Amino acid sequence: MNGKVVIVTGGAGGIGAEVCKAFASQGVMVAVADMDEARAESVAAEVTKAGAEALGVEMDVADENSVKSAVNRTVERFGRVDFLVHCAGNNVKSPLLDMTLEQWRSSLDTHLTGAFLACREAGRQMVKQGHGGRVVLMSSVAAMSPVPDRGAYSPAKAGLSNMARLLSLEWAQYNINVNAVCPGVAKTVMTEMVYKRDPDLQRQRLKRMPMGREVLPEEIADLVVFLCGDGASYINGASIPIDGGFLHTGFFPEPK
Ligand SMILES: NC(=O)c1ccc[n+]([C@@H]2O[C@H](COP(=O)([O-])OP(=O)(O)OC[C@H]3O[C@@H](n4cnc5c(N)ncnc54)[C@H](O)[C@@H]3O)[C@@H](O)[C@H]2O)c1
Repeated sequence: MNGKVVIVTGGAGGIGAEVCKAFASQGVMVAVADMDEARAESVAAEVTKAGAEALGVEMDVADENSVKSAVNRTVERFGRVDFLVHCAGNNVKSPLLDMTLEQWRSSLDTHLTGAFLACREAGRQMVKQGHGGRVVLMSSVAAMSPVPDRGAYSPAKAGLSNMARLLSLEWAQYNINVNAVCPGVAKTVMTEMVYKRDPDLQRQRLKRMPMGREVLPEEIADLVVFLCGDGASYINGASIPIDGGFLHTGFFPEPK
């Protein structure tokens, strides 16, 4: 992996930043792409300080021109793109009956349309280079077991898993493998903040986690890096749960 180049959308987020650091630790050059440019630059600075090469770049995954320009900036800086990890996401809370079209679109635009645009632009670059590549889409256990009161989140995540299957068929000829990873609830700064406000929510969720804890962002990052490495050369179109068995217990409506 040493000397390869990855673009991580949502790279400034809780999971995305760990993915960036995990790639950097393998000698991969990292484009930290996020709509929050200041945080993208700060993650890139952290990675650089640890001795790897990184670029913080503004990218709104829902905006075609912004995605094109971020991919171009990455190629200008590092000369190529070998891996794409689509981690950008938002969390719109609403039952479907109350959901506005704007909320629905915001969720689908970020998760699914964002994946389409990032895959298309990074994919075109990989095809042009002619040396194959890897794509990992950050789906969720919600792709298989819908989360109530989150409107478009579960349909969007199911769409990501389906997109991995679709691209595994279309891009196998280019030696580009596309997979999705499906984390259960992750222990990020944001989750901790939510739990601080609502300790009962954590108690209720932990009851449904066979391993008695959330997944760590570092554990998700390790799986993402594995999927881009030589050991995963024949894994294509898969949606891999990393949930400690959570899927087997299923979601229940969460207490208000
Ligand atoms: N945290 C969890 O429990 C969990 C579980 C399963 C899946 N996921 C998925 O993992 C991904 C990362 O989640 P996280 O917990 O790190 O969330 P996070 O909110 O910490 O990070 C998301 C990042 O995406 C960026 N972003 C949002 N909209 C964007 C846009 N339009 N263009 C570019 N960047 C944009 C945000 O600025 C942020 O840095 C998301 O897709 C999420 O759905 C999270």
